[in-house]
Amino acid sequence: MVIEKICCLGAGYVGGPTCSVIALKCPDIRVTVCDMSVERINQWNSEKLPIYEPGLDEVVQKCRGKNLFFSTDIAKGIREADLIFISVNTPTKLYGNGKGRAADLKYIEGAARMIAELATSNKIVVEKSTVPVKAAEIIMKILRANTKPGVEYQILSNPEFLAEGSAIVDLLEADRVLIGGEDTAEGHEAVKKLCWVYEHWIDTKNILTTNTWSSELSKLAANAFLAQRISSINSLSAVCEATGADVSEVARAVGKDSRIGPKFLEASIGFGGSCFQKDILNLIYLCECLNLPEVAAYWQQVIDLNDYQKTRFTRKVIESLFNTITDKKIAILGFSFKKNTGDTRESPAIHVAKTLLEEGAKLHIYDPKVEHDQIFFELTHPSITSEPELFRKNIQIHNTAYSAIAGTHAIVLCTEWDEFKELDYKKIYDVMMKPAYIFDGRKILDHDSLVNMGFHVQTIGKRLSRTNSLRAQGSQAQP
Ligand code: UDX
Ligand code: UDX
Ligand code: ADP
Repeated sequence: MVIEKICCLGAGYVGGPTCSVIALKCPDIRVTVCDMSVERINQWNSEKLPIYEPGLDEVVQKCRGKNLFFSTDIAKGIREADLIFISVNTPTKLYGNGKGRAADLKYIEGAARMIAELATSNKIVVEKSTVPVKAAEIIMKILRANTKPGVEYQILSNPEFLAEGSAIVDLLEADRVLIGGEDTAEGHEAVKKLCWVYEHWIDTKNILTTNTWSSELSKLAANAFLAQRISSINSLSAVCEATGADVSEVARAVGKDSRIGPKFLEASIGFGGSCFQKDILNLIYLCECLNLPEVAAYWQQVIDLNDYQKTRFTRKVIESLFNTITDKKIAILGFSFKKNTGDTRESPAIHVAKTLLEEGAKLHIYDPKVEHDQIFFELTHPSITSEPELFRKNIQIHNTAYSAIAGTHAIVLCTEWDEFKELDYKKIYDVMMKPAYIFDGRKILDHDSLVNMGFHVQTIGKRLSRTNSLRAQGSQAQP
């Protein structure tokens, strides 16, 4: 048997782009992406897809209706498929055992139970969501405890390594594909079949096969390592600000060591996104369960440093504005957790905005891709505030950066969108309150030229030089 039909449960940030690329590269496979959410599926079938991802529109347009389908008919999808991807959401548990750390596996379990109930023929079930180690075992237990005569399951782990904002390129040119399976003849056979799917466009030497547990742990480890690099450079950014070193120069020098490498050394206001924090928390929880408290403490520090960085930046904003921001208008540029995505999950901008709102500021927010309702949702959520109406009253969302900035005391740049580099800061300076402040949380602006225009500029990992400050003091823009 080759794989003729694939079904994917979960049409989110992972399931949608992954299956679109599989459909593009495997015209001989019929791919159906299913979701319980009618709204989501309608969006996938419309002109405006539910997620923004460069290149995704083109891929969907090319394949949709040919060998790529989006459907709420989960039962049909499961029954017809030879191979089923599970890519449902796995948020951190908000209650009970492991609260705040363990992944909530209720959607994974729900998906496994659906498969058990509906399948009438053999299935290869592939765990694609980021899940804690041993999640495949849970899926396996549910499926095998509920199996019907004549139906056999193979469970594989095939973690997804795409990053948002570059999902299509990451999928097309994956560094590696990782497939874990059971160490049995049937397990090997199932692994081979999934390898065949990826071999349509990925070089075989980049398709790694391991046992299930190695595959699951590798995914957590990769994200933990990446996040650790960011916390490492962010920790040094504080040292740079205290000493006069420049974190970009340090990162360049360190990254030239081929053992270290130059990527992922960009100091920032802290990492966000749906994966890093969640996966490290998962890893910590796993270590605690395995009675490895020293290892748990080691990884906890990566998260603590990230929280410290977000707080440190926000504190700097408040202190610079004379320690009082009540009723001050402040522009927030960028709300997504990184550029080229409309996703706000764990975005550091949320932390910054929440703290400024708590101090009584009036926020004027602009992001090129995040929906307005999503910004309100993030900032009025019960986990953020007990006074949602008060927060709502102090938030205005704008359709352009210029309208968000007009009349504000300060610009706080939270996301590194390219368009923020291109703004006319001379024009902006004229329409701001004086002294005019810019806090560049992503180190993307030309700080010297901003200082020369008269702005008070602060950034991450660099004290702006005294000469610049003096030049600024000499300018007509001073208070
Ligand atoms: C190190 C730096 O590599 C070098 O750039 C710097 O100038 C001086 O410090 P050195 O201490 O001589 O050099 O050796 P290195 O190869 O870095 O190994 C240091 C220790 O780490 C050794 O005990 C080595 O066994 C250990 N190590 C290294 C590991 O345990 N695992 C590894 O993957 C690499
Ligand atoms: C990450 C992993 O990169 C990906 O392999 C995995 O599949 C999912 O998690 P993602 O969260 O989409 O992807 O984006 P990523 O580019 O990794 O950025 C995560 C966060 O780190 C962002 O907030 C980003 O701004 C921040 N970051 C990244 C830095 O602060 N500095 C850097 O040098 C790199
Ligand atoms: P990720 O970033 O991991 O892709 P998302 O939250 O973007 O996560 O997407 C997960 C999707 O999975 C959601 O659209 C949700 O409605 C869907 N989902 C959850 N449980 C099931 C299920 N049993 N069957 C089908 N879809 C599901």
